[in-house]
Amino acid sequence: MEKMPKILVTGGAGYIGCVTTHHLLQRGFEVVVIDDLSRGHRENVAPERLHVLRLQDTEGVANLLGGVDAVVHFAAHSAVGESMREPELYFSNNVGGTVSLLEAMARANVRRLVFSSTAAVYGDPEKLPIPEDAQIAPVNPYGQSKAIVEKILNELDHYRGLRSVALRYFNACGAEPDAGLGEEHNPETHLIPLLFRAVATGEPIQIFGNDYATPDGTCIRDYIHVSDLAAAHVAALDYLMAGGGSAAYNVGTGTGQTVMEVLRAVEEVTGKSVPYKIAARREGDPTELVADSKKLRKTLGWQPQRSGIQEIVRDAWAYYQLKFK
Ligand code: UFG
Repeated sequence: MEKMPKILVTGGAGYIGCVTTHHLLQRGFEVVVIDDLSRGHRENVAPERLHVLRLQDTEGVANLLGGVDAVVHFAAHSAVGESMREPELYFSNNVGGTVSLLEAMARANVRRLVFSSTAAVYGDPEKLPIPEDAQIAPVNPYGQSKAIVEKILNELDHYRGLRSVALRYFNACGAEPDAGLGEEHNPETHLIPLLFRAVATGEPIQIFGNDYATPDGTCIRDYIHVSDLAAAHVAALDYLMAGGGSAAYNVGTGTGQTVMEVLRAVEEVTGKSVPYKIAARREGDPTELVADSKKLRKTLGWQPQRSGIQEIVRDAWAYYQLKFK
């Protein structure tokens, strides 16, 4: 029988990491997970697969890289607001942690990497939908930390023959309720879980601004189901395993929804009205972020399957009820 690739997943106890690990296992890959559990949840990973350590432990990571064909690197902090308050934390964790991982990979001679990047590398985009060759101009330390790592990966392609795929996620959401996997941040700052919380508690959610230049005045985002994101990682791995070269891809649907449209979808799915208050704009929120995802569709043959807003909200609601009832 053909030997299936062995993959090391960093941050596999986090939201997107655990769903991707689930998809990799379904594909028959052998998977080892590293997570320091600073943000991830132990119950998201089978105990025999989980190694609790920090990426800064270069030697410990190198020891786990024996026989590994590729690394999928999720481990990072990802809260934009926190990154504005604690920029050093974002540079030391997201950049420093990654450099240590890359050192360990060099020692173990592992030369393929799929990296979690973000739409935040584009900052306030000039052109919509945003193509991958748009200007990289992050407006917060979180986006900057990811842009710096993308640069380092380009250097290592040159000096080390490291082949990497950077996946620039738009708004990750949804869940895999059948696998008991979904979104759980503490504190929660993301729109859909907060809409559910408003439904469940009766406490109004704040809508951050309704005076943007959009049809209903609220911000537009490109919401992408975590299952479709996971599928993009599997496609990126297949591409690298087949000898593909380094590249960056947007992962989004190409269609945007306003905050009020998402709120209405939550009302339809839950059958309840969402209490809300219009509040001031949130600092750093661009008016509109929508991906041009043609490159990913064309090169990797990826297609979103579950990213209709109704389906996203349905899966996320099923998970919310499972977890928080
Ligand atoms: N929003 C509200 N009220 C809330 C929470 C969010 O109105 O209580 C609005 C935001 O203003 C925004 C939209 O809902 O317009 C989505 O907000 P999220 O916080 O869910 O997501 P963001 O678009 O801010 O963040 C996402 C990713 C980040 C990435 C960023 C790029 O989660 O990782 O896009 O700008 F950096």
